Amino acid sequence: MSMLIKNGNIVTAEGEFQGDILVEGEKITAMGKKLEAQADETVNADGLFVLPGGVDQHTHFNFTFRSATTRGWHTSNAALAGGTTTVIDFCNQEIGKGLIESIENYKNDKVAPKAMCDYGFHGVVFDPSEKLFSEISKLPEIGVPTMKLFMAYKGAPYHADDDSVLKALFAAKDAGVTIMVHAENADMIDVLQKQCLAKGQVDPIYHAVSRPPTVEDECTSRAIYLAETAGAPIFVVHVTTKGAMEAVRSASNRGVPAYGETCTHYLVLDTENLAKPNFEGAKYVCSPALRSKEHREALWEAVRKGWLKAVSSDHCGFDWAEQKHIGKGDFTSIPNGAPGLQDRLQVLWTEGVAAGRISRQRFVDLWATAPARINGMFPRKGTLAVGSDADIVLFDPNKKGVISNSNSYHQTDYNSYEGMEYVGAPKKVYLRGKLTFEEGKFTGSEGQGQFIPGKPFGLCYTGE
Ligand code: URP
Ligand code: ZN
Ligand code: ZN
Repeated sequence: MSMLIKNGNIVTAEGEFQGDILVEGEKITAMGKKLEAQADETVNADGLFVLPGGVDQHTHFNFTFRSATTRGWHTSNAALAGGTTTVIDFCNQEIGKGLIESIENYKNDKVAPKAMCDYGFHGVVFDPSEKLFSEISKLPEIGVPTMKLFMAYKGAPYHADDDSVLKALFAAKDAGVTIMVHAENADMIDVLQKQCLAKGQVDPIYHAVSRPPTVEDECTSRAIYLAETAGAPIFVVHVTTKGAMEAVRSASNRGVPAYGETCTHYLVLDTENLAKPNFEGAKYVCSPALRSKEHREALWEAVRKGWLKAVSSDHCGFDWAEQKHIGKGDFTSIPNGAPGLQDRLQVLWTEGVAAGRISRQRFVDLWATAPARINGMFPRKGTLAVGSDADIVLFDPNKKGVISNSNSYHQTDYNSYEGMEYVGAPKKVYLRGKLTFEEGKFTGSEGQGQFIPGKPFGLCYTGE
């Protein structure tokens, strides 16, 4: 099958032009102005932006917080409904098993039969043994060039101390594996949480009180020093504070390969959401915590200027009525994380591009191109170019509406952005040349997603 997309405004991270794209099978085979090609189907993209399919490098389809686990891959059509064609999901090491075996099990048992978008993985350390450190250099052999350690969450099986982070960094660098960290000082949080609970401060707002910016600032700096000591690059996930962002930027300015992302919710939500009455605040409990407006503005500046490289969703499909309510009467038991996979495109476009904070080129870079580079999937993913997968979003910039859980595909009982007015919506979404979302309807099927192996020595090693 071939398809000619005609007369769209084709946007990449480098520029844009009015033109055509020829798709043959799963690939883009020609791009240009007024292409003369013949195709089985012609799609008129007049008045639309033609964007590369999004790459969301931070999702949790299998994150467990105490007794609660997020919605799984049967909800991955939420990605396509939001123009994201590839996600890179965090895959937990099973206790007592190797990381590679855990990733293969997860892929074969839970992901491949259900995935509706393309996917890759980051390994997540649960059992930091010598065997694990020796496995890190082999991760690229299974197409996984990244691994995450949680410096936060004291007492959780996935908490990693400095010893583990430093050893992981040493083990990773010659193999080109990028170490990612969740940087919050676990001990500081533990002390502050206990102080709050002792005073009877149990509501969701105390999630933010017990995780102040200093907790993240300190840990981000420490993580960067650990990386510098090992001579390895580091990627800090979900940067939320001005101080943490500045730590990444100043390390980079002095030649240390430190990089970071932020997430959609940190750009548009804030601590006021956590203070909502009637336990509504629990919907917004995620870690790091939502910040004040001052930090939000610093994050917008950072994404505009490229000091932070990507905007991810950190999608966690917990629901409110059952799962979030586990923490009623004790904010420390509220499952951490919020849904946002489907909304990343519209929120970032509305508040970023339409609001004049970022250019369309910065948008595409943050949303697709840089995440593909970080995870070794570029140029197969993350851009519109001859030879790339035909992951294409036809985006209508004039469509207006209101975000609502009633048309969200993630299948939880709430949407983090409920009631937010959007400008612009995906009209058609193609996954490797196949139409998979059209005019508000998912048209694909479970299992259509493919594993996309990531190559080692991604952006954090090469700088580009
Ligand atoms: O609150 C969050 N972000 N939950 C998901 C796990 C993580 O820390 O990334
Ligand atoms: Zn995290
Ligand atoms: Zn996360």
